[in-house]
Order: sequence, then structure tokens, then C-alpha cells
Amino acid sequence: MIRRRYNRTALFYDWMDRMIKPELRRKVLAHARGKVLEVGVGTGVNLPFYPEGCTVTAIDFSPGMLAKARQKLHLAKVPVTLLEMDAQQMEFPDNSFDTVVATCVFCSVPDPVQGLREVRRVCRPDGKIILLEHVRSEHKIMGYLMDFFNPVSLHLIGSNINRRTVENVRQAGINVTSIEDSFGKLVKLIVAMP
Ligand SMILES: C[S@@+](CC[C@H](N)C(=O)[O-])C[C@H]1O[C@@H](n2cnc3c(N)ncnc32)[C@H](O)[C@@H]1O
Repeated sequence: MIRRRYNRTALFYDWMDRMIKPELRRKVLAHARGKVLEVGVGTGVNLPFYPEGCTVTAIDFSPGMLAKARQKLHLAKVPVTLLEMDAQQMEFPDNSFDTVVATCVFCSVPDPVQGLREVRRVCRPDGKIILLEHVRSEHKIMGYLMDFFNPVSLHLIGSNINRRTVENVRQAGINVTSIEDSFGKLVKLIVAMP
């Protein structure tokens, strides 16, 4: 169902996606090194921001989103391979990547803890996990409002607005090194180790 929603969302995603500014994406991706896996590459908005020296493998389970990402391949300064794959069941061996990146992805992965366990599995023990995710508000009323309106966002776009992603990251056994807040505390840059 989520995969189908994103095939539809692909048509207007770049127009809609104004929340994460290019400067923030550049800052997030400056952490990437070596052999990189991007999970949920979507329409490929991150591709121009990978620093030189990276080799990127980018996956998504929506062919519609991947088709849009393919159109941005020429904007990348580094080699990029796009693959259709489910983050909850990746086809890579253990310890395959130096860096695993995901931006605004674990709001939509149907089983986020399973997806994050996979992220941990494919990242080398000395590697880095970089997640930029919007989360449920810590503010009581705002949190309830997000719960109330979540079905609308899930139905229209395919994304949950009330995920507790920091808790999910920890539940997956990932070791959080730092968390940086933006948009109040609604968007979090989570840097972690497997
Ligand atoms: C909100 S979009 C974010 C796209 C991009 N990362 C960005 O920052 O704009 C979420 C993406 O995650 C993908 N996605 C969700 N669940 C997935 C899964 N289980 N496996 C692979 N991709 C998934 C969706 O298809 C969609 O392209």
C-alpha cells in the first residue's frame, strides 16, 4: 500500500517537498564517507550533495520515485547506482557499507524497527548511520493533533507524521552518537553507529 502511495506521490513530490532546505541536506550529507547506502532515495533530492570520494548505492521500493531519481543522476558529483529494493529486507551482505543515509524515510517504512535493524546489519561496525527524520511532537497537544491527522497524511502521501523515530532507532539496537534538532524539535539529525 505504501509503495503504491509513493508511486502516486512521485508525480508531485518535488513540488511538495519544501520542508528540508538544500543547506540542511548539504550539512547532513557532509557526514557521508566511502561506500554509501542511501535508503529510500525517493526522487533523488540528496544526490547532488554527496561529497567527492563517496560511491553511492541508493534504494527505494517505489519504481515511480526511482524513475524521478534517475532523471537527477546527472546532478551527482559521485558514482550512483539506483536499485529497487525493500529496506525491510535488503539484499546486501552484512557490513557492506561505510555510511548508511536516510532522509525522511522511517516515517513511511511500514515496519520501521525492522528497516532500522537492516540498516544496522548492512553498516560496517566502524561505520556511520545518518538519519534526518521528522518525528511526533513532544508537546502534548501538538502530539495529539499529529496522531489525529496522521491517517490523512498516510492516505494522501504515504508518510506518518507521528513516528517516534529516536525510540525506534534505539529499539533496533543502533547506538545514537548525537541528535540535532531543527524546526523546533520536529526534525532530527541523528548520527549513530551500528
Ligand atoms: C518521504 S520520501 C523521502 C525521499 C527522500 N529520501 C527525501 O529526502 O526527499 C520516503 C521514501 O521512502 C521510500 N520507502 C518507504 N518505505 C520503504 C521501504 N520499505 N523500502 C524502500 N523504500 C521505502 C518511499 O518509496 C519514498 O520514496
